[in-house]
Amino acid sequence: MDKFVIEGGSRLEGRVTISGSKNASLPMMAASILTDEPCIIRNVPRLADIRTMSDILAALGGGVERTDETTIECRPGDTSEVTAPYELVSRMRASVCVLGPLLARRKKARVSLPGGCVIGLRPIDLHMKGLRSLGANVYVEHGYIIAEADRLKGAEIYLGGAFGSSVTGTANVMMAATLAEGRTVIENAACEPEIQDLARFLEAMGARISGIGTPRLVVEGVEELGGCEYEVIPDRIEAGTFLFAGAITRGDLHLVNARLDHLRAVVDRLHRIGIAVYQKGDAVCVTAQDRPRAVDVTTLPYPGFPTDLQAQCMALLSLGDGISVLTEKIYPDRFMHVAELNRMAANIRKEGATSIIIGVPELSGAQVMASDLRASAALVLAGLVAKGTTEVRRVYHIDRGYERIEEKLRAVGARIERLPDK
Ligand code: EPU
Repeated sequence: MDKFVIEGGSRLEGRVTISGSKNASLPMMAASILTDEPCIIRNVPRLADIRTMSDILAALGGGVERTDETTIECRPGDTSEVTAPYELVSRMRASVCVLGPLLARRKKARVSLPGGCVIGLRPIDLHMKGLRSLGANVYVEHGYIIAEADRLKGAEIYLGGAFGSSVTGTANVMMAATLAEGRTVIENAACEPEIQDLARFLEAMGARISGIGTPRLVVEGVEELGGCEYEVIPDRIEAGTFLFAGAITRGDLHLVNARLDHLRAVVDRLHRIGIAVYQKGDAVCVTAQDRPRAVDVTTLPYPGFPTDLQAQCMALLSLGDGISVLTEKIYPDRFMHVAELNRMAANIRKEGATSIIIGVPELSGAQVMASDLRASAALVLAGLVAKGTTEVRRVYHIDRGYERIEEKLRAVGARIERLPDK
C-alpha cells in the first residue's frame, strides 16, 4: 500500500492534460460483449478500474489489449461464459455493467451482487426492474443476480427510484435494449455525459438510439451489432478536481482536453465562490486570488452538481469566508471525508444528508486516511494548501480513478510524493 506525502503551500500554475473518462470507458468495455467483432476504444485512461473491467472481460472469455498508451482493443473470444465472479465484482461496482450485454447477447447473465460500499447503500433494483420489463427472468440466488431470456422484447420503462435516475442502471437497460425485438422507451433515463457517450458508442456499433442526452431514450432494437472505433470523452470529474485544485491553491491552471460544457453546474458554483473559470483557446482555465466565499451546494443528477465532486468542493469550502451548506441528494451517507478534514482543522458538522461547513482561515497538515476514491481526492486537495505536512494513507482508492495524479500535480508545482506505507 502506498501513501502520499504532501507539503502544503504551493500555488499551482501551468497546463494539465485531462485523461479520458473512467465512467464512460467502463460501460463501453462492457458493451463490447454485444458483438463478435473487435471494438477499438481510444482515450481510455490507465487506471485500476479499467484493469478490473479487463479482468472481468477475460473471465467472460474475451480479451482486452492495450495497443498504445491510450487505446484498447476489446475482443469477445469464447462467448459461452456468463459468470462475473464475486472476487472481481466486489473490487468495483461498475462491473454490474456486464449484466445487460451478457443477457442480450448470451441469453443468460450471472453477475455477483456487488455488496456494501463505503459511500452508502447502492441497490441495483432499477437495473433488475428494467431488465424484467424487457421480458427477462431476473432473480437473486447465492449472492448472484441471474438474468435469463431467449430474446428480449422492447418495452416502455420508467427507470426512476427514490434518488432519481440511475447512471449504470440506464447503461444496462439501454445496452440490453439495443438487441431487443422492437422499440424500448426509457423514461427518467440518466442524462450524464458518460451515458450520452455510451449511446454514441452503441450507435457506432450499429444501434439505433434517439433522445440521447434527454431523460427519454428511445432504442429501436436491431438483429446484431458490429465492432467499432470510438474516442471517449474527457473525464469531467478529473477536470473538476483540477478546477478545485487551482481554486484551493489560489493558482492558475490551464486544463487541456477538458469540456467546459460538461461542468456548467460546477463552474456556476465556482463563480459564486469568487473563482474565475473560462475557456481560453484549447484550455479550460481556473484562476483564483482571494479567500473563497461561502456558498450552498446541492448534489443532483446531471446537469446538476455532481456527487463525484462533492468532497473536493467541501475541501475548498472548508476555507470559505463564512458558513456553507452542502447537501447530498444522491448518496446521503457520502461524508466519510468530514472527519478526516476535521483532523486537518476544518470545522464541519454533518446533519443527516447535509454538512454545515464553518470556514476556517487555514488548514493544518495531518495524517489522514482515504476512504473512497473522491474522498481521497479531497484530502489531497486539502493537503496542497494545509500548513505543514499531510500524509494521505491508502491511496489505492485514488489510483482507481485518477491517472498519475501525483505526477500531474507535481508538474504544476505541487510538492507531493508517493511513498510505500506499511
Ligand atoms: N439507485 C437505486 N437503485 C438502483 C440504482 C441506483 O436506488 O438500482 C440509487 C443509488 O443508491 C443512488 C442513485 O440511485 O442514490 C444514483 O445512483 P446511480 O445508479 O446513478 O450510481 P451508479 O450508476 O452506481 C455512477 C458512477 C458513480 C457516481 C454515480 C452518481 C459509474 C461507474 N459510477 O454510479 O461514480 O457517483 O453514478 O453520479 O459510472 C465514482 O466514479 O467515484 C463513482 C462513485
